[in-house]
Amino acid sequence: MSDRNINVEIDGYFAVSPKRDCPHLATALDADLAHYREVNIRSPCQDCDNVGENWVCLICQQVKCSRYVSSHGLAHYSDTNHSLAMSFSDLSVWCHLCDSYLEHDSLDSLLRHFRDLKFGPDVSSLASNLEEMKIEEEPEEAEEESKEKASGFLGTKSIRDLALALKNSEYKKIAIMAGAGISVSAGIPDFRSTASGLYAQLAEYNLSKPELVFEINYFRNSPEVFFKVVKSLVGDFKPTPTHYFFKLLEQKGCLMKIYTQNIDGLEVKAGVSRDKITFAHGHMESSHCSVCKAEYDNALMKTHLENGTVAWCECGAPAKPDVVFFGEALNPEFYSSVQMLREADLLIVCGTSLKVFPFAGLVTQVGEKVPRVMINREASGQSVGMQYDNPKSRDVVFIGDTDEVFAEIARHADWELVCE
Ligand code: OAD
Repeated sequence: MSDRNINVEIDGYFAVSPKRDCPHLATALDADLAHYREVNIRSPCQDCDNVGENWVCLICQQVKCSRYVSSHGLAHYSDTNHSLAMSFSDLSVWCHLCDSYLEHDSLDSLLRHFRDLKFGPDVSSLASNLEEMKIEEEPEEAEEESKEKASGFLGTKSIRDLALALKNSEYKKIAIMAGAGISVSAGIPDFRSTASGLYAQLAEYNLSKPELVFEINYFRNSPEVFFKVVKSLVGDFKPTPTHYFFKLLEQKGCLMKIYTQNIDGLEVKAGVSRDKITFAHGHMESSHCSVCKAEYDNALMKTHLENGTVAWCECGAPAKPDVVFFGEALNPEFYSSVQMLREADLLIVCGTSLKVFPFAGLVTQVGEKVPRVMINREASGQSVGMQYDNPKSRDVVFIGDTDEVFAEIARHADWELVCE
């Protein structure tokens, strides 16, 4: 792959799932944290003094800017062959040689180190240290601490207080990041839930990893698997109470934007205006050939999707709906709408494992003091810096089904949640 291509791929230009078996990690990474102590998360690029959007080389600790600035990170890799770098924006780790984001247990201590630099020390680990040393907190001190806690609903981090803040119009520009979990009650499986997720149903295909179904190169060679598997994702599904809650936020005038990874279009079906939605991973409204890019008749595509048969283009290659596959570029609309996140005054993340980049990194794009609410069956997002154990954190997690949590929010806010 040429440097130019690498230049295009870095910084999450493609939809990617982090790689877990990078062979360069063990040999190249010097995980002795002493070397990183000097690195300041706000250090400027050593070549152009840019601050923000920088990366730190995990081999020699040099700080370089991203391709969105002057591509000095890429130039550093070309000059030195140092292949591992970490983004100061979302703390993702990239390997130039694998052309992939990485996820590996050996990165944990490094991530913790940079997370502490970026967000402050993890209070939960401090607390457990205190426990081991048998130091008992004085009640007065506990009171002192509670005074330092955030105000508003973050002070108690309760659903009720969030609802009251919404009722009192304290948030006027709400951004939502959504994933497959919000459509599960409509009958569409999510991807990674252990028993019921789509990826758990693929044993018969003997795939080396389930994400292959949605990888563009794999699709070009073996399109049959995608067309068989995707059948469970298409059909005449109805929006869920969660989708209708989004509509309610729009009616109340406080919905700024929904960033969804879903391709089911249920936000639109629930009545949310199209210009309020960014379909980060594409949609099913049009189709193209995966090789020659010729437009493919979408009605015909729909029939193939329903029947589980391959849609062939006249050129002999398989066509697919305009859903973003792993290895494909995200829609430019995604990048332009990301800028808007900086204006958000509240971020709600729901029904997503936050495992896929660059989408997961969006949580880092809102202002540093903007509250971030996670509503999910499990607490996800820690790998992109969300902190739920720290009482001073602006993050909060409400564990549960999104339909139930949003219904409770509506109830406490005295809002009528109408599900047609
Ligand atoms: P995942 O399947 O990775 O995560 C869904 C999350 O929703 C999990 O954490 C579930 O526990 C949670 N969940 C399930 N049902 C729920 C419910 N009723 N209420 C609350 N939470 C619930 O799905 P995504 O994060 O959306 O990309 O996956 C991201 C991307 O990975 C997808 O867009 C797709 C996939 O590979 C591509 O194919 C490019």
